[in-house]
Amino acid sequence: MSALLAVEDLGKSFGGLRAVSGLSFTVNEGEIVGLIGPNGAGKSTVFNLINGVFVPDAGRVQFRGGNITGETPYRVARHGIARTHQVVQPLAELTVLENCTVGACFGRENLPLYRARAVAREAAAFVGLEDRLAMPAAQLTIAGKKRLELARALSAQPLMLLLDEELAGLNATEIERMLEVIRSIRARGIAILIIEHLMQAIMGLSDRIVVLNSGQKLAEGAPAEIANNPAVIEAYLGDPALAASLHGGAPA
Ligand SMILES: Nc1ncnc2c1ncn2[C@@H]1O[C@H](COP(=O)(O)OP(=O)(O)O)[C@@H](O)[C@H]1O
Ligand SMILES: [Mg+2]
Repeated sequence: MSALLAVEDLGKSFGGLRAVSGLSFTVNEGEIVGLIGPNGAGKSTVFNLINGVFVPDAGRVQFRGGNITGETPYRVARHGIARTHQVVQPLAELTVLENCTVGACFGRENLPLYRARAVAREAAAFVGLEDRLAMPAAQLTIAGKKRLELARALSAQPLMLLLDEELAGLNATEIERMLEVIRSIRARGIAILIIEHLMQAIMGLSDRIVVLNSGQKLAEGAPAEIANNPAVIEAYLGDPALAASLHGGAPA
């Protein structure tokens, strides 16, 4: 079986800084793959390279067997890849439903407005925002905005979802609820590549984990292997809270 997403020898520099280099990994259909690494490791840059915000200097991005390297975010969304952003930026003046409708219009299908609205409504309900459809996005709580970010991405009807620190800033109860939503997204057959700092959460969620350090792949494997990998522990030693969290301690 060929992979749903294959990143091959990917590279991107900003001036003299090699943010990502020689990076290869795959995500299979139905899989949840965790992308972890210290701050500045290049995780968000990988998302930007996959979804077309940045054009890679080297390497390729393959999706469903086709080469999508360097395509625009709009085209990448049409192929069926949607993402959330680490720093959520909903269209503040627009309502929850309108934000999701925009997501549906620029998603996998070219939908007429009435269909986009129906898809948007369904996605908002899926993340638990059905009672806030008419609320301006600016009035949502942080947790609400995180949910909206996810609903907007789901409105694009993706085959694959890129989640960038979706749990950051949430309290324990909100994290539990969000994890349930993420699991039910996978149950719908949507593959997920997820960046997350909460080790316990990502270890419990992921089928496989890719560890980045200074833009390069440091390790890859099942969560249990990663938590016991000496190179990974070493990379996290600069951050004692993160290192402790590798073994289920308090999240950073
Ligand atoms: N648009 C940009 N211009 C210049 N440098 C950038 C840009 N985006 C990211 N970087 C740099 O690339 C490195 C990786 O950043 P990033 O991918 O955001 O890391 P992570 O998400 O793992 O914390 C960092 O050193 C960051 O400062
Ligand atoms: Mg980041």
